[in-house]
Amino acid sequence: MKNVVQALVGAQWGDEGKGRVVDVLAKEVGVVVRYQGGANAGHTVIVEGKKHVFHLLPSGMLYPGRVCVIGNGVVLDPEQFISEVKGLDPSPESIGTRLVVSGSAHIVMPYHKKLDALSENARKDSSSAAAIGTTGRGIGPCYVDKYNRIGIRAEDISDPDLLAAKLRMNVEEKNTILVKLYGEKPLDFDELFEKALEWGRFMKPYIGDSTMEIDSAIRSGKRVLFEGAQGTLLDVDHGTYPFVTSSSCVAGGCGTGGTLGPGRFDRVIGVAKAYCTRVGEGPFPTEDKGETGRRLRDAGGEFGATTGRPRRCGWLDIVGLKYAVRVNGLDMTALTKLDVLSGLDELKVCTAYEIGGRRTDNFPNSAAILDRAEPVYETFKPWSEDISACRNFGELPRNARDYVRFIEESTGVRIGLIGVGPGREDTIFVDF
Ligand code: GDP
Ligand code: IMO
Ligand code: MG
Repeated sequence: MKNVVQALVGAQWGDEGKGRVVDVLAKEVGVVVRYQGGANAGHTVIVEGKKHVFHLLPSGMLYPGRVCVIGNGVVLDPEQFISEVKGLDPSPESIGTRLVVSGSAHIVMPYHKKLDALSENARKDSSSAAAIGTTGRGIGPCYVDKYNRIGIRAEDISDPDLLAAKLRMNVEEKNTILVKLYGEKPLDFDELFEKALEWGRFMKPYIGDSTMEIDSAIRSGKRVLFEGAQGTLLDVDHGTYPFVTSSSCVAGGCGTGGTLGPGRFDRVIGVAKAYCTRVGEGPFPTEDKGETGRRLRDAGGEFGATTGRPRRCGWLDIVGLKYAVRVNGLDMTALTKLDVLSGLDELKVCTAYEIGGRRTDNFPNSAAILDRAEPVYETFKPWSEDISACRNFGELPRNARDYVRFIEESTGVRIGLIGVGPGREDTIFVDF
């Protein structure tokens, strides 16, 4: 069977519409796997007018009979997990969908969130370090503990002895930091221990072996879709470091975070908006702080699905998109939010940067250099028609088709799917 295993990644700075594309693809898929990030993600799916926002759970949860996996590469906030599972409508039990959490996924503890906030505040007040504008979900501090080999994993919190030993070590370490570095109150071991055991009791039925689940699904001919969170330009290695998240959002992250060897992937899909947005700090060459940015934010409803923060908006950046094609090995682009561009007076796309008087179409993997990049634009003819009812490529106005074709030609990757609205049905399949 073709395209049995697919990876889907964000090709920009997150919020490209990954959730809605996963939801569309999940119709043909047996297993959906989250492989990195945590509740910093906010993936919106709209079905029959009803809005669902997934932070931790894979966006395939709404289909009956699916297996949804939270892989070892995810950092899992149990409070968020419990509230999201309890809030699911329809409930997974009622539709026969199974949720499996890798026992090796690391647990985001309340002290990770506290340290996230304290570190952000310290950066804001510092003359030497800039704030990142994190989501405050404890993501960075949790990954620090994972790589420092002191983290608490999902499998640990239902084992009182193991949990006690691991938690004691962490509470001692965190209390030194909290009290001595930040002048905060120390953590209460007993309170945290009881809380974690309670989470462990809730989570125990969901803990499983994600490697077995994925392998046996592929062997039985089921399609598997890996759902990326955040985006390529927020990747800890390939993004605009240090203004990034703390995980591997690119397609390569699927292998370690979702447990599958590279040879088993059949297709990599990059999701990109027809323009660009970014939340938090860091360079964004095409950002428009004026009327165009405001117009895109209003028309696109560009407010964070996790924090509610207004997203920074600007024109599509082909330089960044070509970089995403390269570092992910994209086979196909899913272009979302084309409808948001309807009715604009002008339409521009950044095709190169001027940096220090030199023109380049190569995305510099350095925030300091990118910060100095001036976008070079090509102008396109806008269209005024409402395109939200279009269901075939040929129904789009000529100027919209030219815009899409230009993106394809300049990135060298075909556009297989176009979003013309937020709902499941607001989708044009071009050549899927
Ligand atoms: P994700 O994090 O990549 O899953 O994206 P978010 O859910 O954070 O943000 C995407 C936003 O755009 C959500 O509000 C979606 O409902 C909305 N959206 C997705 N695709 C389209 C589209 O094609 N057109 C419009 N108008 N909205 C879309
Ligand atoms: P989805 O999956 C957009 C950004 C934050 C901040 C930086 C680091 O919905 O696309 P973190 O809390 O991860 O340490 O914050 O990354 N960020 C996102 N921006 N969409 C997201 O997720 C994001 N997750 C994190 O705004 O700039
Ligand atoms: Mg989002």
